[in-house]
Amino acid sequence: MNCEDQPERRVQETSSEERLPCFFLVFATVIVLFAAAFFLRYSGGLRWDVYDASGYLAGIPRPAVTSAATAVPAGGPAQKPAAANPIEVGRDVYQANCAACHQPTGQGMSGQFPPVAGSDWVNGDPRVLTAMVLGGLQGPVQVAGAEYNGMMPAWKTVLSDAKIAAVLTFLRQSWGNHGSAVEEGQVKSIRAETASHAAPWKVEEVETLAGKSAGKEAK
Ligand code: HEC
Repeated sequence: MNCEDQPERRVQETSSEERLPCFFLVFATVIVLFAAAFFLRYSGGLRWDVYDASGYLAGIPRPAVTSAATAVPAGGPAQKPAAANPIEVGRDVYQANCAACHQPTGQGMSGQFPPVAGSDWVNGDPRVLTAMVLGGLQGPVQVAGAEYNGMMPAWKTVLSDAKIAAVLTFLRQSWGNHGSAVEEGQVKSIRAETASHAAPWKVEEVETLAGKSAGKEAK
């Protein structure tokens, strides 16, 4: 269309299409071109595994990439997502399962839910910590200088060994906590060792697990 040659008084008689202000058409064209270019450049070939906002795929090994453009030698950057960062996985597990009580900040709720930030239980013996979370906890417990007397349900029927390992590693390395990572194999062996213990632990009971087995599993 001819943008310049359009006297104003004729505008009303022309079709609605031609009444669109010229600048608008130019503007719209620029936006459409920009959007198309952006899409072609960043859509990642519309691969299902390209965009992972929730971190869900972080725990799933990637399928082998075959296209020449994206192929990277074994051991190169493409291998990285397979070794999922346990802190990231653990953060998701925490927000989904634990934050309702222990709060997204890990500070707990005064008098009701003990903090997991700055807790000696979280930073301490990983065997005791793992057993507490697997089996649940009830009765009086001292946490960060305050006493709580509530009940935490067991997580062993809800979370896999890998997820418990990830969430405990996240807890032990967040908010100023300083514990070592907890491995999936450690959770597995404590799950087996405590399988016959049905009710949530009392502190006196669960404490007896501390450092019980020698070697790398006891801290
Ligand atoms: C329904 C609320 C609730 C949820 C959800 C919950 N907890 Fe607890 N948790 C508690 C309570 C209450 C206690 C203290 C129990 C007691 O008084 O004996 C506790 C105690 C603990 C302790 C030991 C004390 C401390 O604060 O260091 C740890 C560690 C812990 N929870 C970790 C977790 C993890 C990890 C999850 C998620 C997988 C989780 N909790 C989910 C309520 C909850």
